Amino acid sequence: MTAKKPTYIGTLNAIVNGERQGFELLDCWSTVCDPEIQSMLKTVALREGEHAATFEKRLCELGFTLKEKRAEGFDKTLQMIASDMSDMAKFEQLGYDKLGEGDGEDQLLKLLADKTIDPATAGLLGRFIAEERDSLLLLKAAYECTRAKGEPESPVASDDLLTQVCQQLSELSDEVAKLREKVEGKSTKSRKSKVRAVK
Ligand SMILES: [Fe+2]
Repeated sequence: MTAKKPTYIGTLNAIVNGERQGFELLDCWSTVCDPEIQSMLKTVALREGEHAATFEKRLCELGFTLKEKRAEGFDKTLQMIASDMSDMAKFEQLGYDKLGEGDGEDQLLKLLADKTIDPATAGLLGRFIAEERDSLLLLKAAYECTRAKGEPESPVASDDLLTQVCQQLSELSDEVAKLREKVEGKSTKSRKSKVRAVK
């Protein structure tokens, strides 16, 4: 007789996929963010990576393998995170500025509502919930830090401005050169005509 598939395999699978993407996203962000929030983002990234490995290992111990699933639009989100958009804008795009609002905590507790969960998996889930709560506080602190510093001037915007100024300067130089040519041309002509008049 084959053992019945535990009811929580799908949950473990979803955790692994979610945490893997969380790692990918935060790890990427930690390489381009303000140095002041780098260690916070990196800490959460490493936790996400560890959670993904822990629960994938548990799935294997229970006799199952991961069904990989990438969230729709995740690659686009990753592009946004790698871009030079400000950290504050990234937090807001991801909805991280509203983390913990609503029923986020209840969602985490629901993971333990299934009374058939074996003690080893339940132990891992308990640690996972506690770390996720702390990660949420870390991300909130990182967001508050960027908010307190205000929106930095985008380097792209200042580059654009520099390009515009250079272009205007070069146009102005062209105009001056044309004017000079005209003025010099006229004065040469008038000098020649004066010479002719004298003759
Ligand atoms: Fe997570």
